[in-house]
Amino acid sequence: MARDKWFETVAIAQQRAKKRLPRSAYLSLVSASEKGVTVSDNVESFAQLGFAPHVIGATEKRDMATTVMGQDVSMPVIISPTGVQAIDPDGEVAVARAAAARGTAMGLSSFASKPMEEVTAVNDKVFFQIYWLGSRDEILARMERARAAGAVGLILTTDWSFSHGRDWGSPKIPEQMDLATMVRMFPEVVTKPSWLWSFGKGLRPPALRVPNQATRGEAGPTFFEAYGQWMGTPPPTWEDVAWLREQWGGQFLLKGTVRVDDAKRAVDAGVSAITVSNHGGNNLDGTPAAIRCLPAIADAVGDQIEVLLDGGIRRGSDVVKAVAMGARAVMIGRAYLWGLAANGQAGVENVLDIMRGGIDSALMGLGKSSIHELTREDILIPDDFTRTLGV
Ligand SMILES: Cc1cc2nc3c(=O)[nH]c(=O)nc-3n(C[C@H](O)[C@H](O)[C@H](O)COP(=O)(O)O)c2cc1C
Repeated sequence: MARDKWFETVAIAQQRAKKRLPRSAYLSLVSASEKGVTVSDNVESFAQLGFAPHVIGATEKRDMATTVMGQDVSMPVIISPTGVQAIDPDGEVAVARAAAARGTAMGLSSFASKPMEEVTAVNDKVFFQIYWLGSRDEILARMERARAAGAVGLILTTDWSFSHGRDWGSPKIPEQMDLATMVRMFPEVVTKPSWLWSFGKGLRPPALRVPNQATRGEAGPTFFEAYGQWMGTPPPTWEDVAWLREQWGGQFLLKGTVRVDDAKRAVDAGVSAITVSNHGGNNLDGTPAAIRCLPAIADAVGDQIEVLLDGGIRRGSDVVKAVAMGARAVMIGRAYLWGLAANGQAGVENVLDIMRGGIDSALMGLGKSSIHELTREDILIPDDFTRTLGV
């Protein structure tokens, strides 16, 4: 990769993304709800956790490989599904290629900009993420499309409450990228020529359709049509979760659990995995950081299902903290989106390499030869750090 495009940390990738993207596109990735209390806590809580390193004990090579939902992955980091990858012309396909190149799996959003078939064609470890949107028949049809496309797991995301007014203002998402929109957005787009140029000779702007909401291979509804249908769908019940899990029959992850009682109900519904998550601070502001909720949930159900975590992971040492606190693996969101925005597929690979390097140094410092040796004894957990919800 050209040296000037390489970045050393996720924070630098974010600075590059901010510089390169039109302001609205950048803000759509920052996202988060209301005052941003949860999104800040997700990140800052990791800084409150310390390490208890050994001075001697590291081995020459450190083992990071594990499995997530039946898939071998080279490290305990997978791609969390996010719906705004149209910031890059190759979007989810670029992310899937990067994940495959670094030996890991990818959650693919049902609000993705690329058809699932194009994504599964370049990464054979794709978990398709579904929202409870439309009738049971429509949900089933989408699920069957994912199965036919080769998805190896299903993620059901239910933690979305539709009211996220942001104190710093929500970004404008245009309905269509037609000429009128381009003229309206011109002042912010014209200052970002390299971004616009990346969309090709015809200066093709990003498509704003969501092809994976279609039950077959057609273009799919616009973002706002799909969003409207979603807002109009009654939220699912635990019976719905159990029903969908049964229909799928394979590896099934429920995304967005922060309470112990919900984690236990997820086990009863037959899921194979959960992720302790608050949607990256995009749901109810004031929900504690995911890492604070992890230990109680891992203790309650970690011997029955796989417990993952997402929210606030920005470096490899965060991954090590999460694994030591009880996560099997983590899912990353904004970290790879900054990489994608900064430098496309190579930028996502760059972020995954930062994660790998950081995990390796933390293991070395802790005197461990494998992520599987990590325990809470390796972490300095301040009093009053953890949150046990729903017991
Ligand atoms: C811009 C953006 C879009 C997202 N879109 C989705 C989505 O479509 N489906 C979903 O399950 N989660 C979505 N998420 C949540 C992520 O999967 C993940 O839970 C979150 O980003 C983790 O926090 P982090 O960004 O601090 O890593 C989105 C998050 C962001 C920031």
